[in-house]
Amino acid sequence: MRRAVPIIAAVLLASTATVGSTPGEAVTFTAEQAAAGAVVFNQQCVGCHDGSDAPVLTHPGVWSHWAGRPAYRLYDFITQFMPADRPGILPRENYVLAMAHLLQLNGMAASDNPLSEDVDSLRRQIAPLARP
Ligand code: HEC
Repeated sequence: MRRAVPIIAAVLLASTATVGSTPGEAVTFTAEQAAAGAVVFNQQCVGCHDGSDAPVLTHPGVWSHWAGRPAYRLYDFITQFMPADRPGILPRENYVLAMAHLLQLNGMAASDNPLSEDVDSLRRQIAPLARP
């Protein structure tokens, strides 16, 4: 329990003092990641997320849950809870790719900077989703 304080302090410090990274900057992903993520999504996610067992992932709740929040929240959610029938089974890299696809589906444009699986970066970056 005592460890919690230094970890939180480190996260706060990282968010204000990291060189080359402005707090609250938008999360980024590349077109290649989004394209590869569509393949992952079609194999691992769309079976439920076609509106049958789970919502299509462009419904208004998606942006109201995740828009303007740290990108880490969405990453944390999908890595812990998805696929709902086999949570956490995908390699981290595939979650990152699927997340890039989700960001694109929800109105974000690809850029030259890849989406990272680095937790500190994901905590600093915001997912500014747009209403599709
Ligand atoms: C076995 C069915 C199933 C599979 C496969 C599945 N999901 Fe889900 N997913 C769900 C259900 C059910 C919910 C709704 C959970 C809730 O609202 O509590 C959900 C919710 C979500 C949400 C939140 C939606 C929102 O409204 O904000 C995201 C994001 C998500 N899933 C991503 C994924 C990704 C990425 C994959 C593939 C790696 C995946 N899911 C695979 C069943 C599934």
